Amino acid sequence: MEVRMICDILIIGGDGDLAFRKLYPALYHLDLDQCLPPCQRVISVSRNVASAEGFAEKVRNKFIKYTGGATLDEKVWSRFAARLQHVALNATSEAELALLRSKVFTDPDRDLIVYLATPPAIFAPICQSLWAVGLVRDNMRIVIEKPLGKDRETFLQINTSLAAHFKEEQIYRIDHYLGKETVQNLLAMRFANALFEPLWNGNYIDHVQITAAETVGAEGRWQFYDEAGALRDMVQNHLLQLLCLVAMEPPASLEPHAVHDEKLKVLRCLAPLTGRAVQEHTVRGQYVAGTSGGQSVPGYTQEEGARAVSTTETFVAIKAEIKNWRWAGVPFYLRTGKRMQKRFSEIVVQFNEVPHALFSEQMRSGTANRLVIRLQPEEGIRLHLLNKVPGLDDAMPLEMVSLNLSLSDVFTQRRVPDAYERLLLDVMRGNSTLFMRADQVEAAWQWIDGISAGWHTGKQRPVPYVAGSWGPSESIALIARDGRSWQE
Ligand code: BG6
Repeated sequence: MEVRMICDILIIGGDGDLAFRKLYPALYHLDLDQCLPPCQRVISVSRNVASAEGFAEKVRNKFIKYTGGATLDEKVWSRFAARLQHVALNATSEAELALLRSKVFTDPDRDLIVYLATPPAIFAPICQSLWAVGLVRDNMRIVIEKPLGKDRETFLQINTSLAAHFKEEQIYRIDHYLGKETVQNLLAMRFANALFEPLWNGNYIDHVQITAAETVGAEGRWQFYDEAGALRDMVQNHLLQLLCLVAMEPPASLEPHAVHDEKLKVLRCLAPLTGRAVQEHTVRGQYVAGTSGGQSVPGYTQEEGARAVSTTETFVAIKAEIKNWRWAGVPFYLRTGKRMQKRFSEIVVQFNEVPHALFSEQMRSGTANRLVIRLQPEEGIRLHLLNKVPGLDDAMPLEMVSLNLSLSDVFTQRRVPDAYERLLLDVMRGNSTLFMRADQVEAAWQWIDGISAGWHTGKQRPVPYVAGSWGPSESIALIARDGRSWQE
């Protein structure tokens, strides 16, 4: 799909953290790669900005701060800076937006992308104003990001306020994990190769692990994080989206509806976790003081701006089951946490042992094949295989070795784009395959709500784990009860 030659991006909340950290750097890199149409404008609006003149300079300084500036090319930067405009206004006010429209958006034939980089609490009044001043039209798309509610009901409220003015095809719900290279590569790996798909089911796969471990704590965003916790912040969206990509049936095509339909089926097949099952199949944790990267770090409730008492979880482990033909009996273990020992996000597909142990002397348990899809930090795919150790031993000793595909080694000349580059370009192209449709988000919330309710009624408070560890021992016990262990 081509990017229309005339297209503007309006970033509401353009003077905020998301915009500086992710959106402007992504747009600059798209410009660097010559993906932006020549006359494209990037218009930022926000309420509180001192000087519109110094805005491009501010964007540049933050760009250097967040990216290190290695890719800053002066010529491209001047071209990019010329696209930037900043206007101080309140986007919930119809009168102020009407003024912007009459001054800046005078040509209704230009495609318009509106990115709401604002708290969801003001999505509704902003959408109402956009509509009232006539900026909502067929060639307009709107982009939103989580938190999309705190449960199914609040999500539906947000959705209703958007659906009042936009068609579903105009709404792009971002989950930035879907823009990561290796996540897209999962689709390629599964459906462009004949090798894996015949084995991709409960006959050959013992279990799947999905881990997103971070070394950072809640730090500067404690208040925000405390409202959400790891379940809503990471599992409801990123981890469930990864689970969908691993578990879904081959779609008929890569058209958005074909992919979304298959993902939705997976979410609807998730065995509900409610009541006692929540206590048995989930672990909540909260970090206490420890060390990270050799430095002492405070516990969650001692972070700056924290309350002394909080029952918000910073770690979750879940044993999930997908009740369908392909996955019956195959557990999906999900795990995410802040202040873990190492930063890594990874999907582990653990295959079954061979049916007949020909090399029984040498094959200890735990020698079954394993496919590891590493999303970060070093993106790549490793396939663990048993191999004969070279030599003349009579017993034919075997050892686990890995076929290692490191994306940076294979594609040495290619810069790995940030997830937001891919996603913003897809919005411009009008391709929503890598975005979340409303019914998917709703189904994900429905499953998550069962867990939250189970924690609430079962008074399941987070158990402590030391910052810099692999999470609470209960998480190790959760998987050990099934005779398995986490891959670290
Ligand atoms: C965000 C969460 O969606 O994802 C953050 O709100 C988390 O809490 C972040 O740190 C992790 O993203 P990434 O790309 O660094 O794995």
